[in-house]
Amino acid sequence: RKDLLDLASLSREETEEILEQAKPLKEVFQRSVKKFPALKGKTVLMLFYEPSTRTLSSFEVAAKRMGADVTVFDVPSSSVVKGESVRDTVDTLQAMQADYIVVRHQMPGLPGRIAKMTKASVISAGDGAHAHPTQGLLDAFTLREVYPTEEGKRVLIAGDIRHSRVARSTSTVLKKLGYEVAYLGPGSLVPEVPGIARFTNFEEAWQWKPDVFYMLRVQKERQGCQFFPSVSEYHKLYGITEDRFRRISEEGLWVMHPGPVNRGVELCDAAMDYERCLINQQVENGIAVRMAVLYLLKQGEE
Ligand code: CP
Repeated sequence: RKDLLDLASLSREETEEILEQAKPLKEVFQRSVKKFPALKGKTVLMLFYEPSTRTLSSFEVAAKRMGADVTVFDVPSSSVVKGESVRDTVDTLQAMQADYIVVRHQMPGLPGRIAKMTKASVISAGDGAHAHPTQGLLDAFTLREVYPTEEGKRVLIAGDIRHSRVARSTSTVLKKLGYEVAYLGPGSLVPEVPGIARFTNFEEAWQWKPDVFYMLRVQKERQGCQFFPSVSEYHKLYGITEDRFRRISEEGLWVMHPGPVNRGVELCDAAMDYERCLINQQVENGIAVRMAVLYLLKQGEE
């Protein structure tokens, strides 16, 4: 496989291979082995048309840990602002002999189009509402650390499902691995998906008995949309409030979030400090999983 563009097209075997490969690479990372030079001589270009903290920096750390040369292409100060097309930008990067292009863009499907334009391996770091494959993989890896087996485990994903690339990629990989998945959110923003339970009311979702509450970021850029409640209404209707947090912690349930968190909207402060809140573990695992993706794409080309 040359590229990683989504998780729907990844087989169960390929998914398992990435998750297995990430285990020893997490140890390499945690043991502070300064370099695991599997990508020595390779060049990784980071092409982010949208902001990012976690994905951008963890790809950079992952690639450098494996000895690659990394260039972060700063879109706001590049010729993109002079109107240079994606096609011409990619041709320019290709001329610099990029081995990987990690791309984030607001347009769904754009990484796939770039992949057809270049010999470099293209990895989607999030494209519109389409896919965020490495987020889905790091979420699956994190859940495997908590639960050695998926059987009977229930993950509730809450928020604006319809416009969330995280919801799409994470639910795709979790279903593939055998988890039970449900969606919760405002009715118009929760699609009907075969094999995924659907709730628009928190109490009904609670009765489903989730083991994990996966809270999506409220995309404030969508505030003002007629279908989306205000942030305070959202917190009351779908967020982990102080009251809901008490029930979640009494039951020993797990809390996840892809970040960045809007404190007091998706999660109250107490939920952020909860020992079963996996947010920081997700971030740390993001490095191991991205190391595994970079490593296995290189193996695939040899
Ligand atoms: N989860 C995630 O994609 O975070 P960033 O936007 O900070 O990369």
